[in-house]
Amino acid sequence: MLEAMRWLPNEECLELLDQTRLPAEITYVKCCEYRDIVSAIKRLAVRGAPAIGTAAAYGLVMAARNISAKSKKEYSYQLRGAARELAATRPTAVNLSWALDRLLQKFDDADTDNHGELYGLLLEEAHAIYREDISGNRRMGNYGQGFIPQGGSVLTHCNAGALATAGYGTALGVIRAAREAGKNVSVYACETRPLLQGARLTALEMMQENIPVTLITDNMAGFLMAKGKVDLVIVGADRISANGDVANKIGTYGLAVMAKAHNIPFYVAAPVSTVDLKLASGDEIPIEERDHTEVTHHGGRLLAPAGVNVWNPAFDVTPHNLITAIITDKGVVWPPYKENLKKII
Ligand code: MRU
Repeated sequence: MLEAMRWLPNEECLELLDQTRLPAEITYVKCCEYRDIVSAIKRLAVRGAPAIGTAAAYGLVMAARNISAKSKKEYSYQLRGAARELAATRPTAVNLSWALDRLLQKFDDADTDNHGELYGLLLEEAHAIYREDISGNRRMGNYGQGFIPQGGSVLTHCNAGALATAGYGTALGVIRAAREAGKNVSVYACETRPLLQGARLTALEMMQENIPVTLITDNMAGFLMAKGKVDLVIVGADRISANGDVANKIGTYGLAVMAKAHNIPFYVAAPVSTVDLKLASGDEIPIEERDHTEVTHHGGRLLAPAGVNVWNPAFDVTPHNLITAIITDKGVVWPPYKENLKKII
């Protein structure tokens, strides 16, 4: 299984698989300064909500290493400055600020102002986030795999796999777990314009494990459902508001509407770190808008008339009433989400 990131203990750097180059090249970038992590997240070398949270946690560890401060207060000021920069890289996935807040809390609770000890505590917390993400994904897989029937066909969008997490994946973790439980499962992967995470990453992950995968362009999903070729849809999430609305890769909302029209169950798989109870509904989730060239160009080639107006939101919001259930690392949450989500947090 491809790994999105690895901590290099001797160098105290994080090695990231450069996902912008997949599937053509397997190239790693070594990040030894927190600003390397800032730029890797911005340019999507590392992407996917849990993966950017985990990478940002290691980024804060790197920032801590370079802090020279006379007091814990001054240390805290500098650490929080770096945390703000890391948190501002991408606005939609709440896992980013969730992971950074965990490290800052660890720092605040530490009964020491010794730099070496503080650094050690922060590094241990980043490792804990990494480990817990993988074990949580495995639990999520076990909770969710029962929804996939023997011989079932699953439609997924974007990439919510090992590459989008510390390992194993959320939506693809459920598919992996079904396979591990002995089921023949096959996958339809939407290519996921504009950046093709479905084509480049999900198709690659599934093929590497010999899970049958068929690639479709995004506009084929409705006809695929109408032809009876999809038993269920499973996607990941970047942020889930208190009422169960889900922000995920642009195109997810359309799939949920079509799944409803065809009576196909629509599941979201995400760790509880993706749930943001502070936001009442999906209307409050900040949606990242990315550069126009992602739509007008591909591989440096112009696909549309120069100067055309473009709208490029990276995510959309699927209303809770279109979601059959939310599979988390703490169990499956059923509607009504407003009552049931807060019970598991
Ligand atoms: O822009 P990306 O590639 O970071 O978007 C990723 C997604 O939308 C994923 O579905 C989501 O982060 C869940 S990953 C387990």
